[in-house]
Amino acid sequence: MLSNLRLLVLENPTADFVMDGLEQIEKRRLINWYERSTQRSEELKTVLDAFLWCCTDGEYAADLGDSGAFTPVFKKKADELGITTEMLLSLFFSHDALFGDLNAIPQRADIDAPLFIVFEGLDGSGKSTQINMLRDRLKQMGRRACVTAEPTSSATGGLIRDALSNNYKRTPSEMAALFLIDRISHNVNPVWGIKKLLNEGMDVISDRYYYSSFAYQGMGTDLEWIMDMNLRCPDILRPDLCIYLDVNPARSRSRLAGDRTHLEIFENDESVMEETRKRFLDVFKKLNVDENICVIDANRPINVVADEIFNIVSQYCKK
Ligand code: TYD
Repeated sequence: MLSNLRLLVLENPTADFVMDGLEQIEKRRLINWYERSTQRSEELKTVLDAFLWCCTDGEYAADLGDSGAFTPVFKKKADELGITTEMLLSLFFSHDALFGDLNAIPQRADIDAPLFIVFEGLDGSGKSTQINMLRDRLKQMGRRACVTAEPTSSATGGLIRDALSNNYKRTPSEMAALFLIDRISHNVNPVWGIKKLLNEGMDVISDRYYYSSFAYQGMGTDLEWIMDMNLRCPDILRPDLCIYLDVNPARSRSRLAGDRTHLEIFENDESVMEETRKRFLDVFKKLNVDENICVIDANRPINVVADEIFNIVSQYCKK
């Protein structure tokens, strides 16, 4: 589940903006976090500065993965804050916990039950790679895991593909309705449906789900209508977890252009991709209370992203 703090940092990681949106309990947590690692009391402004640095420059330096580059960056910031480098490292290694939901990670009633996990992201965000890596790691843990995708291979999926490749024009409402039908089949098909796979004890990892309808079709027709018909449909399961791979649209488009001979309707324009990303993040805000959604910075190296995803998913499974 996205915490308020995480949403604020995603939207605009500047001290003024985050400060304005902080809840009282988050202010207390930030101050406690700082005091635990540094044994000092500081004003919230300084604490927030340290926290935002950890989320931005600190993460960036750590991602370089080379302590030769890493240490001077940390030392410089530690000096600026008037603390030791060790203190700043301790802050850095614990800052992620502040993003956690205030009531901790929601526990499933039956933690051994198979998981239904959805991956979302712009085209070219690396979903397929991460999905396959997660499936393999779940299997290595002794779980049974399989991958499904939307649009599916149903007849409706075929109609959708025709429209996506611009062979047959459809309105956004038609697309939303087609995706709804396809999603119901995805849930209930007696051979390859999600419910059947979960009942057989398989973890199901789906490449896209209703969040895509909210982000893509929500651009052209009434979002509330689309949300309503998907979320209230008795045949459509709610995932245990949605992982959104967040990438810079310019980057994902250049990955696509390198990979594909032709681009689909939503892949053609960087500004559309920018708008779609914004819509995904807006929709996650709306859904925050009812769904477990993790936004992952997927601009980082593949293995770093895969490790983070696996750490999150592991918290949902016992074996
Ligand atoms: P596809 O090439 O099949 O998969 P991907 O790009 O994810 O590897 O494209 C699926 C396209 O369908 C993608 O551009 C997003 C779009 N889409 C919607 O517009 N609405 C939806 O509800 C879903 C599931 C997908």
